[in-house]
Amino acid sequence: MTYEDFHALCQNRRSIRYFDQKPISKIDVIKLLELARLAPSIENLQPWHFHVIQNKELRHKLIEASCYGNFVEGADVFIVITANRSLENKAKEPVWNPKELEYSCMAAAEHMLLGATAMGLGSCWVSLHHGTAHEILKLPHHEIVVGGLMLGHYKRGEEHGIDGHQRNALEEMYTLHE
Ligand SMILES: Cc1cc2nc3c(=O)[nH]c(=O)nc-3n(C[C@H](O)[C@H](O)[C@H](O)COP(=O)(O)O)c2cc1C
Repeated sequence: MTYEDFHALCQNRRSIRYFDQKPISKIDVIKLLELARLAPSIENLQPWHFHVIQNKELRHKLIEASCYGNFVEGADVFIVITANRSLENKAKEPVWNPKELEYSCMAAAEHMLLGATAMGLGSCWVSLHHGTAHEILKLPHHEIVVGGLMLGHYKRGEEHGIDGHQRNALEEMYTLHE
């Protein structure tokens, strides 16, 4: 793959919030999870766990836990990503900065967002009220809710997402310390 190919993939990814009814195959969900598996993580601890929510009732409840996600119900697949904060490194020490466990999960999520775009699927990250989602999913204490991921087939006309994709100029976003 060239830089140009990858740039085009990144540019084509959009947060897609409205989907058509066509289901995503289980194989495609597994393919996306495989991409997540390849993500970098703090000390290669791979702290992520993916709760694939296909149960409508559970998904409905999770809408209450979303910060801005009343469209979650329209997505064929909703995945809640959690981080295992009880993990220790090889020296049996806790991770020096526990937030890095959550950053690792975001790296995995980005693999899935880009993968979904490459597969012609729409996707969007959804912020969750961690405590509420934790309770709904009856998670053990050591699992932290990082957030949610909607996946579905594009609704006609939604391929380009909504406004929000504009970016600041490249020169504004970095400082060269020479
Ligand atoms: C950490 C994070 C939290 C987000 N939370 C939400 C959310 O709760 N609901 C939503 O519709 N979009 C959410 N988004 C998507 C952003 O709104 C979107 O990425 C941004 O507006 C840029 O648009 P684009 O993804 O189409 O380029 C979130 C994105 C990130 C990275």
